[in-house]
Parts: sequence; structure tokens; C-alpha cells
Amino acid sequence: MTGETEILGESLPFDERIEIPNWEHRKVDLGTYRKSHESSVKNSEVLWETVAKELDWQRPWDAVLAKGEHPHVAKWFPGGAINLSQLALDRHVAGNRKNKVALIWEGEAMGDDGSPKEVRKLTYFDLWREVNRFAFLLKNNFGMKKGDRMAVYLPMIPEAVVVLLAAARLGVTFTVVFSGFSAEALSSRINDLGAKLLVTADGLNRRGKQVNLKEIADKALEQTRTVNQVIVVKRTGSAGTNMKAGRDFWFDDLMRGVPVSARVEPEQVESEHPLYVLYTSGTTGKPKGMIHDNGGYAVLLHATMKWVFDLKDEDIYWCPADIGWVTGHSYVVFGPLIEGATTVIYEGTLDFPQPDRWWQVIERYGVSVFYTTPTATRMQMRFGEDFVKKHDRSSLRLMHSVGEPINPSAWRWLFDVVGEKRCPVGSTWWMTETGGIMISILPGLMLIPMKPGANGLPIPGIDAEVVDDKGDPVAHGEKGLLVIRNMWPGMPGAPTGMWGDPERYVKQYFEKFLPKDYFFCGDYAVKDNDGYIWVAGRADEVLKVAGHRLGTFEIESSIVSHKAASEAAVVAIPDPIKGEVPIAFVVLKNGFAPSEELRKELRHWVRSNFSAIAEPSQVYFVNKLPKTRSGKIMRRLVKAVAEGKPLGDVATLEDEASIDEVKQAYESLTII
Ligand code: WTA
Repeated sequence: MTGETEILGESLPFDERIEIPNWEHRKVDLGTYRKSHESSVKNSEVLWETVAKELDWQRPWDAVLAKGEHPHVAKWFPGGAINLSQLALDRHVAGNRKNKVALIWEGEAMGDDGSPKEVRKLTYFDLWREVNRFAFLLKNNFGMKKGDRMAVYLPMIPEAVVVLLAAARLGVTFTVVFSGFSAEALSSRINDLGAKLLVTADGLNRRGKQVNLKEIADKALEQTRTVNQVIVVKRTGSAGTNMKAGRDFWFDDLMRGVPVSARVEPEQVESEHPLYVLYTSGTTGKPKGMIHDNGGYAVLLHATMKWVFDLKDEDIYWCPADIGWVTGHSYVVFGPLIEGATTVIYEGTLDFPQPDRWWQVIERYGVSVFYTTPTATRMQMRFGEDFVKKHDRSSLRLMHSVGEPINPSAWRWLFDVVGEKRCPVGSTWWMTETGGIMISILPGLMLIPMKPGANGLPIPGIDAEVVDDKGDPVAHGEKGLLVIRNMWPGMPGAPTGMWGDPERYVKQYFEKFLPKDYFFCGDYAVKDNDGYIWVAGRADEVLKVAGHRLGTFEIESSIVSHKAASEAAVVAIPDPIKGEVPIAFVVLKNGFAPSEELRKELRHWVRSNFSAIAEPSQVYFVNKLPKTRSGKIMRRLVKAVAEGKPLGDVATLEDEASIDEVKQAYESLTII
């Protein structure tokens, strides 16, 4: 696995070191960091216990870490009890953050006067009261109790935060399904989790248009057996929302019946009890339900909010991630609220109605800590500096990006143009499975020099390494696979790591390096001479489209569910803005002929039957796909053709003519 590694065609500046004068107070040299990191890994349980002691527990733990019933599923802080709703609300309400603004929410629509039509600010007291009332409803009217499961299919509105915190308060395990996903995606997640209740909305606002969410939810509910109660938040107020009597209830109507004085004591929640299950794409058609516990997860969030974001009481923090993704769970809802921060939530698209909406929000609320993405940054770069410069960004003091590798020029743009060389800029590496940030610079703890495009060193307590196929560290500067060699709080939790599928959990993440107990992340990475890790992209069949995680299999399954498609191979090609985009090679069924209409229809099909973010940027028709003799599609070869790269080993290829098919189909369209 040797060879040049680059991000979006840009080579990696391994030897560049950037320091900021105004962060002297946190500056350490690399040797100091490495030494302290080494000892933190050796004594990681001591470290995590120290962090855990900074939180309020309902009951202390018996041990820091214990093995679960299943191999590689750990229990963090067993014997302890903790409630994340209490942690995020009650302890602030009982102290001097009671009247501090917890949430600043801005709706997408803009008024004629150039200010947003809707802004809602909720103090910690307001939020606490709403969460109590909604928890009261869930408990008393809907009979929800600890151990029950519920699904959440909501846009970015304050109610989403209320719903998640109310579930956490009762110990009800929730799953959030991204509001851009289709009915099929929603129903399959509801069924897998066995959710009893669904919270959704009548609709959502996106780019000035309304999407009827309830209609999609209704379609999903036709294919589910477990949900018999639905709570609907009125967001768009669109006429004719179908409400099924006895099953569907308006959130507002229900809440009107609950007195403001309603209180629900936070349930005693065991540390290892599942807080939520979040489904994420893997290398099969079926998404994986990753389980996150309460205690370990809270500890990792608390540590990373401090070390990575350096969060202080006077900060205004903004992470525009959707609650449908793990970033929304960890760093929009739970992380910032556990810390007692003021967090901004914006409903809509970042470039709507004008490209400078991003900068407007930062200016309007005086955002000081900003957590963004490489795709959004590249989009802004294309719009140009004028949009940025016209807004006051003097409040900004720290920025990080997440979700995909950041190319060095995008990093420089954030650092030079947006932050005017004043703000540390990081690229935090982590994934749904890890629960929180694993590799990052740490402006809140010890700041090492920054390198444009690098993730940095692993955070304290985390033993991340770049290894070869056998699990041995590769030479510095060489491409290898990223693994985590020890356990960490926030890792997939009890009882099974992956909901209902302990075997798949072990197979997916540990089998590759057994008997070494390494967690295999599925990413390619390089470690440079200074020990900085540069994650360069996925090493498996997972795509990162604008930072969104999608499986090639999921897109292929969606394509072949169309009546005309018999087989499909989806691969990712680099895209200057989105990082990667999917393209599809499709074999048609007998009786269907290639046409421009069909091409469009298939793209539209994926859009409406799976998700807009999964739409292939191009569809190519072929008579056959390259396969192994055992019939497995060789996506690696398809990708090599599309990227104009050498094919590599073709020994297992069944029929070489299939490669010419792919080549011809690709070139004929590309040339046009
Ligand atoms: C990628 C998102 C490079 C990586 C939090 C990982 C990154 C996948 C970075 C997880 C980063 C995330 N630099 N790559 N800073 N952050 N990734 O589950 O490929 O949606 O495996 O979690 O995103 O995606 P997920």
C-alpha cells in the first residue's frame, strides 16, 4: 500500500507547520504532546475516569470498563447511572445557567427587511420545561418507558431537540432518520429497531420549497408493524395533512393539554443503557444500527467539547449538521447542551436565499466557535470572498471541519480568508461508530502546529494507528489503513454494538485484524514523520457525498428496484465541490432499451426512492458488468476505468469484454 496520497488532486503538505501567535497559552511542542499522549494511552482508564468525575452521575460506577456479553462490546462505567437530559438541562437550571440561552433557532424564510422571518431563543429553563412536558406526555399518554424504542423523522426545528432530550430523560432508546431519506429508508429502520412510536412533522422547508414529510412517513408506516402512535409537529401548516384518527396526534394539541408545571423526574439510566441507535451505511444493502450508550458517550462528548472546541460559557457555538447524522447527535444536541453552551440551529440551506446566508448567521449571533464541512467550504470558495468579507466575522475564534478529508486549499481558505489567520482550524476525524472525535488538534488543551489538510494526532486516550493488511504500522508517509487499537468511551455499546447483529459487528470491525483487537475504521490514511494522521478517504465501498455517508450497495439496490434495471454497479468519482459523487453502470432488463429518458428516470428514481443526496451524477448503460467468476461485481475495476487509472489485478475477472463495455459506455458519454 505504498504510493502518493492526495486529497482532491492536491498533494499533502507534510512539512508545513502553521502556528498562531494569539494561542500561545495552549501551545506545546510536538515532543511534549507525544509524551503526554503516550502516557494517556497507557493509563487510559485513569484518564476517562478523571473526565467522568467532572459529570453529575445519578449513581457512581463500580468499574471504569468491563467486557460485555459479546466479544468487543465493552461496558463503560458499569454499575453507574447517568441521565443525559438531566446532564444537559437540570444541572444548568439548578445553577446560574438557568436563564442563559440554550438554543438560538433560525427558520429558513427571510423577510423583506433582510432579517429572518422566524427566530426562536430558548433558555435552559425554557428548554427544560418543554422537555419535561413532552416527557410527561410520552410517559403518561403514550405509555413510553425505559427500554422502549421510538423513531424520529424531523427537520431542524427546536422540537427535534425537545424530543431527543425527552426520550433520553425516560431512557427510551431513539433512532433519528434523516429527513431527506425516503419512506423505504424510514420503514426499514423502524422495523429493525422495533420502534413503537414515531415523531415526525407535517413538512419541512428547503430552499424556499416545502416537502411533505408526513406523506412520506405515511408511506413508511404502511410497511411497518410496530408503530401504532404518531406525533406530528406542525411546521409548514400545509393544508390537507392526512391525520389517521386514533394513531396520529398533533404535537401542539397534545402539549396544550400538559400544564407548564408538569415535571418528569429523570429516569435512573444505567451507564451502558442504549441512548440511541443510529443507522449508517456499510458495505451491504442493509444499514448498520450502531448503538451508543449513555455514560461512555457523555464522557467522550464532554472531553471533546473541552479539548477540541475549547468551549467557554461566553461562546456562541454553531454546527450546521443535520440531526439525522451523528454530528447532529453529538455536536448539535448532546455535546453543547451537556456543556451548558449556547448553540445555534439553522433550519435551511446554507446558501439560501443568497450565498452569504452562512456569514449572516455568524454575524447575526456573533458565532465564536464554528464546526463546518469541507463541502460547504468549497462551495463558499466558489461563491467568492466578497460574500464573506461583507460580514463581520470578528466574533469567530475557532473553526473545525468534519465528515470528509479537507483539501489543503479549502483549509487555507478557512484559515486565511474566513478566520484572517486568527483562528485555529482543524479537521476532526471520527465516524458514526466512534460516537465522538478521535483525531484532531486540541486548541482547548494543548495546541500543536497545524498542517493544512491534516487531522492531527489522536486525542488523549485514543490509540489510533495507520497499519498494513496484517496490522503492522506502515512506514511514515506511506498509505495504510486506520485502526483504533484500544477501547474508548463512546464506542458502540451494549448489548451488541450493532442493533440485533453482534456477529456482523465483530465481522465488520474486528475480524480483519484478529487476533489483534483492532477496530478497523474502513479509511485509508497516512501518518507523517511528525505523527500527524491524514485520513484520505474510504477504503471500502462506502461513499462520502458532500460528507454524507452512503453505501454503493444501497444505491444499487435502489436502482435495481426500478422495473427496467437488472443489475447495477455504483462507484464514486472525485468531485471538486462534493468530494465524491456516485455514478452508476446499469444493465437493463430484456425489453428495455437505453435512452436519455431512461437515464433521467433512473436518476430521479434514486432521488425519490432513496434520497436526493444519493442521486447518481451520471448513469451509463452496459450489456454486462465486470464480475469475478463467483459472480461478485468488481467495482474496483469500474472505478479504475472511470478515474482513468490502471486496472491492477484482473486475474479473477470472468470476462474481459465487460471492461471494454464499461470503458466504451464511460468514454462515449464523457466525450459528449
Ligand atoms: C470520513 C462523520 C477525513 C471518514 C462524523 C469516516 C473524515 C467517515 C473526517 C465517517 C475528516 C469524517 N477527515 N475523513 N475530518 N471526518 N471522515 O459516520 O471516511 O458519517 O470513516 O461520521 O467520514 O462518516 P460518518
